Amino acid sequence: MKAITQDTYGQADVLQFKDIDMPVAGPDEVLIRIRAAAIDAGTWHLMTGEPYLLRLGFGLKRPKVPVRGREMAGTIEAAGANVTDFKPGDDVVGTATNGTFAEYVTATTARLAPKPASLSFEQAAAIPISGITAVQAVRDTAKIQAGQKVLVIGAAGGVGTYIVQLAKAFGAEVTGVCSTAKTELVQSIGADHVIDYTSQQIPAGRYDVVFDIAGNRKLTEVRRALTPKGMLVLVGGENGGIWLGGMERVLGATLLSPFVSHRLRNVLAIERRKDLEFLIGMIEDGKVKPVIGRTCGLAEVPGTIKDLQAGSARGKTVVII
Ligand SMILES: NC(=O)c1ccc[n+]([C@@H]2O[C@H](COP(=O)([O-])OP(=O)(O)OC[C@H]3O[C@@H](n4cnc5c(N)ncnc54)[C@H](OP(=O)(O)O)[C@@H]3O)[C@@H](O)[C@H]2O)c1
Repeated sequence: MKAITQDTYGQADVLQFKDIDMPVAGPDEVLIRIRAAAIDAGTWHLMTGEPYLLRLGFGLKRPKVPVRGREMAGTIEAAGANVTDFKPGDDVVGTATNGTFAEYVTATTARLAPKPASLSFEQAAAIPISGITAVQAVRDTAKIQAGQKVLVIGAAGGVGTYIVQLAKAFGAEVTGVCSTAKTELVQSIGADHVIDYTSQQIPAGRYDVVFDIAGNRKLTEVRRALTPKGMLVLVGGENGGIWLGGMERVLGATLLSPFVSHRLRNVLAIERRKDLEFLIGMIEDGKVKPVIGRTCGLAEVPGTIKDLQAGSARGKTVVII
């Protein structure tokens, strides 16, 4: 089968589009024919192996799993003997740790949900990682209440477009922060106010909750936007050092937390079927929609990742397979 693989950590030119052996499902797994996958920021952290901290889990010298990609939608081709919740022919959406920039993948079923007929494979593939992260940030960490003033920094990206819509659906007054070319997009998904960070300042002392997804500002800078008892929710972190990356800000927030009135929280998303189903329900109810900014074919993944690393993301980027 065709897949995007890598033998070593590095920039997008380490990715190869090539033929590899078909995976075989174990007794607790299903084999899925992938129809669409999506690229998220985690894709290039795994590709580069940076920050180095992640190599402890994903492979010290090279990635243990050579095929990139973690989220997808497709159709079950075969099911292992112990699988009872899905059967061949079922359309599913979810995450798979064996690499989803490929024609087939094997997966355990705990992180899969049925794909509703009302969603295309492309729309469904755009849900799992960014959508689950947003659900856990908005509903579980911030516990957003109607009437709260919420700021979303990084509002136009994969996670941000879901956080804006979920916070609106929970009744908040939402301000999205993005670059000039993406202000219309952020408005179109329901933000009450948009701040173009290239020409406007974020007002001080105004927001009950700040979600920092872009993750490239200092803690003092993002905390300035909060009301005295406001909550900062750290979702992304892109500016740390080579060893710890975004974890540096998380550690800084943990050390600072006892000494400030702000509540400082971090999100480490856990891929769970029930959260995937929760978001799919909201999409079916018309309260949230997956935003797909760009699509590409499997062979175009390396070039597309280069563009995304440069900050071009508008919602999700979907690979049609
Ligand atoms: N905590 C978790 O469990 C978890 C889960 C998933 C992802 N993440 C992290 O969340 C972050 C975002 O992921 P993603 O998939 O949403 O990435 P993405 O789709 O590439 O979007 C990132 C967005 O950040 C924006 N941005 C860049 N600089 C900015 C700035 N100075 N101010 C405001 N916005 C800025 C970019 O748009 P502009 O053009 O508007 O700048 C871009 O749209 C990454 O660091 C990722 O690793 C964390």
